[in-house]
Amino acid sequence: MTCFSYPVLEMAEDRNLAALASLLPIVTPKDGSRIDVDDLVSATACVSRANSLTCPSSKKVVLNLLRLVLGENTVNRIQRFLGVQAHTVPLADYQEISINGLVSFVDIQGKTILEVGSDEGGNVLVALEERGVKFALGIDVWKRKDWFRVLSKKLVHAYGDVLSLPYRDNSFDVLLNIATFEHIHNLDVTMHEMYRLLKPEGIMYAQFGPIWSSAVGHHIWCNLDDKIFRFDNPDLNPLDDFDHLLYDRSELTTKLMKFWDDRTANHLVKAVFDHSHINRMFHHEICDYMRQSPLEVLHLEKSWDIAVPLEIEQRLRDRHGDKSDFSCAGMQIVLQKGTTK
Ligand SMILES: C[S@@+](CC[C@H](N)C(=O)[O-])C[C@H]1O[C@@H](n2cnc3c(N)ncnc32)[C@H](O)[C@@H]1O
Repeated sequence: MTCFSYPVLEMAEDRNLAALASLLPIVTPKDGSRIDVDDLVSATACVSRANSLTCPSSKKVVLNLLRLVLGENTVNRIQRFLGVQAHTVPLADYQEISINGLVSFVDIQGKTILEVGSDEGGNVLVALEERGVKFALGIDVWKRKDWFRVLSKKLVHAYGDVLSLPYRDNSFDVLLNIATFEHIHNLDVTMHEMYRLLKPEGIMYAQFGPIWSSAVGHHIWCNLDDKIFRFDNPDLNPLDDFDHLLYDRSELTTKLMKFWDDRTANHLVKAVFDHSHINRMFHHEICDYMRQSPLEVLHLEKSWDIAVPLEIEQRLRDRHGDKSDFSCAGMQIVLQKGTTK
């Protein structure tokens, strides 16, 4: 465990502030070293306590001192997270299902958890705290690289790309991925990073859909002018089941032009075939990545089934081969790091 090393702040007789300052470089350690999660856990608890400083004048003294030591920009960043409270957005159904799925495989009480692709709300992190975790860190790529916030004494939300995270080997007991695996482009690198980050016997849990090889695998999620397109709402889904697998780009454009103007049809075709928010992996490719990963597969099952009419099934097989289960729109996957592997 690293000692917090801001002598002037320690002279201020407030070790919380030293901890606060030490947390600042968590996202990109300047010396290229990796973060010790135990340091992060202690610093988070300290920051959270500092956060509850009630006397405004002591906050002012503290901020002035920090300004002297760390400079104006850094202090602005500190101010941004002073006062931030944990969100209480209710869990979406799929998040609730995932957390229940997770706890049916592993006891998370007292565990250290990394949530990958944790999005903006932090509501899953809050739910994990309510279920007794020791510490949960949520990472996602959507914010600036230096973005992070302390949600509570046990929760941190930060920028992070799962393809390369700045935490030490064997850092977490549990890795949680909700609705994220269809969005990550390099599952091979991801699984190696998951392996590196998990402690021996640690568990990786993933629950996700719509897989590219399923009826709604195009995962359409875009707007154009006042039009809204969503794969998960039949009234807002502009495509028929499996259009993205039965037609190529020009065939699909022709089909869509029967219902939409040229600009909208082209926008939709780009969303289906080009948009970078999904990885377009077939069901069998995902299974292969899991089985070939350094982690041991404990559980790999279909969690969302969309029936495929026989005639369509034949056309899909003629076009894409026999390896995938085209009815599999969602999966629940549990892997474990062995003690020796
Ligand atoms: C559909 S959202 C799911 C968010 C959240 N888990 C939930 O329960 O709704 C997928 C998330 O994965 C994130 N993501 C995609 N690639 C990532 C990567 N390489 N590293 C970390 N997060 C990533 C996206 O930014 C996005 O927020």
